[in-house]
Amino acid sequence: MKILVIGGGGREHALVEKIAHSPKVGKIFCAPGNAGIAKLAECVPIEINDISNLVTFAQKESIDLTIVGPEAPLANGIVDLFEENGLRIFGPTQRAAAIESSKAFAKELMSKCSIPTAEYEVFSDFNEAFNYIQGRPLPIVIKADGLAAGKGVKVAMTYREAADFLKDVMLKKIFGSAGDKVVIEEYLRGEEVSVIAFTDGKTSCFLPPAQDYKAAYNGNQGPNTGGMGSYAPVTFLNSNDLEQIKKRMLSPLLKGMARERVPFKGIIYLGLIMTENGPMVMEINCRGGDPESTVTFSLLESDIVDIFEAVISGRPEEIEIKWSNKKCVCVVLASEGYPGDYKTGMEIFGLEKASSMKDVMVFHSGTARKGDKIVTAGGRVLEVAALGDSYAEAVKRAYKAVGRISFKGMQFRKDIARKVI
Ligand SMILES: Nc1ncnc2c1ncn2[C@@H]1O[C@H](COP(=O)(O)OP(=O)(O)O)[C@@H](O)[C@H]1O
Ligand SMILES: [Mg+2]
Repeated sequence: MKILVIGGGGREHALVEKIAHSPKVGKIFCAPGNAGIAKLAECVPIEINDISNLVTFAQKESIDLTIVGPEAPLANGIVDLFEENGLRIFGPTQRAAAIESSKAFAKELMSKCSIPTAEYEVFSDFNEAFNYIQGRPLPIVIKADGLAAGKGVKVAMTYREAADFLKDVMLKKIFGSAGDKVVIEEYLRGEEVSVIAFTDGKTSCFLPPAQDYKAAYNGNQGPNTGGMGSYAPVTFLNSNDLEQIKKRMLSPLLKGMARERVPFKGIIYLGLIMTENGPMVMEINCRGGDPESTVTFSLLESDIVDIFEAVISGRPEEIEIKWSNKKCVCVVLASEGYPGDYKTGMEIFGLEKASSMKDVMVFHSGTARKGDKIVTAGGRVLEVAALGDSYAEAVKRAYKAVGRISFKGMQFRKDIARKVI
């Protein structure tokens, strides 16, 4: 088989790595890929949202199956266009991807399906939104409706902060049309967990639940990032909890989407908060998380291509997915200044020394090749993942590998998964 993977981050590197293990696969392409992916796949310089050129490429190369990593091309209709052209592709249609690309749509659907979630209101008028927040309990959560690359949510501690964010989003349009509407919702207290599943829209199968570390600095301090680390499985969800989450959240959601004639197939991601009153859905994504995918895919022992094919053909019950009993921990190495401005082009040292360690995988996120060197090319540069029989072993191994890697300005959190060891 010839496979095309869309994306170029750690999540896609982890995907490509799993796909490369499938005996069915002869050749992998990745658009646009990165310097790490280039060792396993042929990287194609087509941007992820240049959908018509991706279709042309898939036709020209007779690609058997395309897998989409990030949300943007899904929200832009990549699955619809590939399918219209008779190409097999794994992921939700544009309308189903609205579960992530419109937070208002997701909330309304959750309400209709009685899925536990924070109380909310949706506004498309600034003054109405502004009036609504006055007198509401603090903190209060304000979310731009559309995609905002992880920057569209404010947990406001004061009315002033809330009003300033509302102005930025709805009047100054700092996220463009993603801020035409906002969701304002109640603040929920509790541990966050990412519960991810493969689904054909009817049945679903969970991956090991994962936790990611969004804040830039140790102790959850500093600004939010795309994710500075992750581990799986989490310690506080057992199989009974997962069954409840399926029964009360995922299955009603999938049924609701089918009823609304937007059936979902692909990878669905429930971002949950474990509140005093049980789990509540904080957000839904239409793809695997990054860096959560790095740890969850690393625990997969079955052939991932079999899973993709079973989902696409609506026969997921035909496969039995095997997961490792190990623990996986991932530490993200980022550029100095990230998530603010940062420089790129710094030479990266020690990649071989780290990735040659047993049970260590060094996934590339923002890297590029420059002559015979590998250099930084993004905010998040590498995702260093390690397996262990215990969390303590996985943590130790991951940080030992991190210690072998260096580049100018390298920053990372030192407390990933520390609380579970
Ligand atoms: N209702 C809520 N209560 C408490 N924290 C929240 C709530 N909604 C979002 N957050 C915080 O904001 C972060 C981002 O929100 P989320 O809905 O996941 O949007 P996105 O991932 O698109 O930025 C969450 O990871 C969480 O830390
Ligand atoms: Mg989120």
